Amino acid sequence: MKNYQNPKGTYDVSPEMAAKYQQLEGTLESLAHFYGYEEIRTPIFEDTGVFKRENDSSDMVNKEMYTFSMNGKDSFTLRPEGTAGVVRSYVQNKMYANADQPVKMYYYGPMFRHEHPQKGRYRQFEQFGIECIGAKSPMLDAEGIALGYSMIKTLGLSNVRVRINSLGDDESRKNYRAKLTEYFRPHAEELCADCKRRLEQNPLRILDCKVDADNPVMKDVPLISDSLNEPSKEYFREVLACLDALVIPYVIDPKLVRGLDYYTDTVFEVENITGKAGAQATVFAGGRYDGLVSYFGGPEVSGFGFAMGMERLILLAEDEGVKLDEKPKTDVYVMSLGNVGTKPLELATEARALGYITDFNYAPRSLKAQFKTVDRLDAKITVIAGESELAEGKVNIKNNRTKEQVTVSLEDYADTLDEMMEDILNETDSL
Ligand code: HAM
Repeated sequence: MKNYQNPKGTYDVSPEMAAKYQQLEGTLESLAHFYGYEEIRTPIFEDTGVFKRENDSSDMVNKEMYTFSMNGKDSFTLRPEGTAGVVRSYVQNKMYANADQPVKMYYYGPMFRHEHPQKGRYRQFEQFGIECIGAKSPMLDAEGIALGYSMIKTLGLSNVRVRINSLGDDESRKNYRAKLTEYFRPHAEELCADCKRRLEQNPLRILDCKVDADNPVMKDVPLISDSLNEPSKEYFREVLACLDALVIPYVIDPKLVRGLDYYTDTVFEVENITGKAGAQATVFAGGRYDGLVSYFGGPEVSGFGFAMGMERLILLAEDEGVKLDEKPKTDVYVMSLGNVGTKPLELATEARALGYITDFNYAPRSLKAQFKTVDRLDAKITVIAGESELAEGKVNIKNNRTKEQVTVSLEDYADTLDEMMEDILNETDSL
């Protein structure tokens, strides 16, 4: 008789635990739908090259991947994360040709990393992730972070802090790499063996090193903020302004670089601040990636996303003494006409605050294209944020069931949405 145990760094999900996972998954899924995201499922293993991209210097790729071959020729890897597979699928399936960009997708499932197992760190773990691919706008970065943040809040959790930084564009990072190399080179002998390699391959990774975290040489390390060029600074300022508008609290952490190589501009991590999480405090994290779609042979378009560790989320709930239970579903589409700034995002946010599943148009697009989006979404109400109406403090709201449209002042926006939605729901009930 042989006594087998589950492999180190894995765990069984008991039926009791499974119910918790299902509830969590349901809540996160409905919130993702609320923000206009749809599910994508990609294979659990991919060609190794999907993850092991040229010159990748991350620990995840170089040390932690479960890679295998069944015929001695083809090499496959169990996915260590979701982003690369989703971007591979976006390119392979030519999603960049869809009329509506960005394509907003979420995924849920197991990831595999050969790490040193400890509390909150496993070799097989579950991630809920989102990717918003095909467009670049500070509003999308802020909306993504706001989605993750609202997931935490909807679950009744509160002890988290958003840390954010910008890695800038290619030029800014090139400048920064040069500065770091110049700074670290005279101290090479004081660094750990891995960091000596990182110094040659990608000195940014040194900032992420657990071994050298307390090394005195880290104290006066140059900061990326001093290497950002003007467009990168401006982009970052706009992301922060959007977060301010959404009332998401954050701290700027100029040393945050993240452990994966594909990030550009915005990077962020949201951590458990109950003080009980130890070293594995990050609940969800992500950022923007400009080069990944083109790396896989797609167009030069950008993406943004994050992934949330389910085990870390459950730990946060335990740390806060919160029982995880079930929660909520988009009814409104905000169109934009002319130069209306961030108003569509603000109006969408107000509608979401009223509990409506809402999406919005973020970039100049023809009215026809926007109406097509409304049709595809089958939105119950269309809000039309027009430049001339907004200049007079007004907005148009259309009941898509009766086709009636009213122009109301911004002060009456929320009340009108509520009344219209009530009419629509009453009518649906009487059918
Ligand atoms: P990441 O920071 O490597 O990013 O992982 C995201 C989250 O997954 C972490 O914050 C943590 O909650 C969880 N996690 C990571 N490793 C483990 C582990 N060994 N055990 C338990 N939980 C873990 C990514 O994976 C990126 N793909 C995120 C992203 C999406 N960036 C853009 N889009």
